[in-house]
Amino acid sequence: MKALILAGGAGTRLRPITHTRAKQLVPVANTPILHYGIRSMVAAGITELGVIVGDTRDEVMADLGDGSQFGASITFIPQDEPLGLAHCVLIAHEFLGDDDFVMYLGDNLLEQDLQAFVDAFVTARRGDTPPSAQILLKEVADPQRFGIATLDDEGHVVHLVEKPADPPSNLALVGVYLFDREIHEAVAAIDPSERGELEITDAIQWLIDHGRRVRTEILTGWWIDTGKLTPLLEANRLILETLTARIDGSVDANSFIDGRVVIEAGAEIINSTIRGPVAIGPGTRIVDSFIGPFSAIGADCEVRHSEIEHSVVMERSKVLDIPRLEDSLIGSDAVVSRTKRKPRAIRLMVGDHCQIDVE
Ligand code: DAU
Repeated sequence: MKALILAGGAGTRLRPITHTRAKQLVPVANTPILHYGIRSMVAAGITELGVIVGDTRDEVMADLGDGSQFGASITFIPQDEPLGLAHCVLIAHEFLGDDDFVMYLGDNLLEQDLQAFVDAFVTARRGDTPPSAQILLKEVADPQRFGIATLDDEGHVVHLVEKPADPPSNLALVGVYLFDREIHEAVAAIDPSERGELEITDAIQWLIDHGRRVRTEILTGWWIDTGKLTPLLEANRLILETLTARIDGSVDANSFIDGRVVIEAGAEIINSTIRGPVAIGPGTRIVDSFIGPFSAIGADCEVRHSEIEHSVVMERSKVLDIPRLEDSLIGSDAVVSRTKRKPRAIRLMVGDHCQIDVE
């Protein structure tokens, strides 16, 4: 079995961060989102990976390399424009050949590993009525944002619709799909949707309409489509909660470390309190500060005379003299500082290379 990982597209909803970086490489607990999906794929025994790349291809290719860091081999498949998820399958046909494959959306994060999901498909394929596809569903509160499935009384999927204004159910398609080679016929047969994309929901509907079997599984663990700030911070919180505490950096005698905290080698904690779950990247200096629960501070950052809680700060950024920063996402190489000393909390989404001076 192969895997097709989608890391192209435009990250409009996480701007300004995604003006300068691929949304799939935004870090969650100091690790790019995309790495979690790839690791999960490899853990399920799938090591031949095709990765769709778009405008941000240079960055994605530099980050993933040949895949050996994950124990996988990666073939990059360039997509000139984000013409839809089914378009990704269309252009990956040569890589995929006639093999069964997992399609994984590079901005999705799942608690559950993929092994059981993949095994269920492999087993069902050996049965009397082998499915052509398997989809993963999860009840959501905001079904207008997702592909939505309608099931019949026996739990078989009968209808799929992409981002419906008037949702027929609240069962969303999670961004992990399994297909056999029949999907290639489907993606070649469908027309672009009103928004101009070849929708994978339409391709799966085509399979159903042509008498192919589509299996469904209901996801039990959490799942996050990280394309927006709130889900991204939520994903950060959920992953930080799973970390094993580890202190490889230095902590001076005036500092206090409490709870599930990871401090990478080369980081320095000086006269500060770190209350977990928190991850502090390598080479980062935390001085006279408080880093509170659910914060991830990337590599080579500096935090001085500040309080940070429930926030992501990316690599090489500085937070200086900020009384309280919460629910925030700070891009890389940014500086957030304050000249006048009025105590108040601030919430920010700051792009890479920005300088913000709070008066
Ligand atoms: O997250 C689950 C949802 O993902 C499903 O419920 C929807 O049915 C499905 O269409 C998809 O919706 P999104 O609006 O979230 O898709 P998005 O445009 O964010 O693209 C998902 C990933 O695929 C993202 O990593 C970018 C990549 N992509 C997207 C397109 C449209 C590509 O690589 N090429 C593309 O042409």
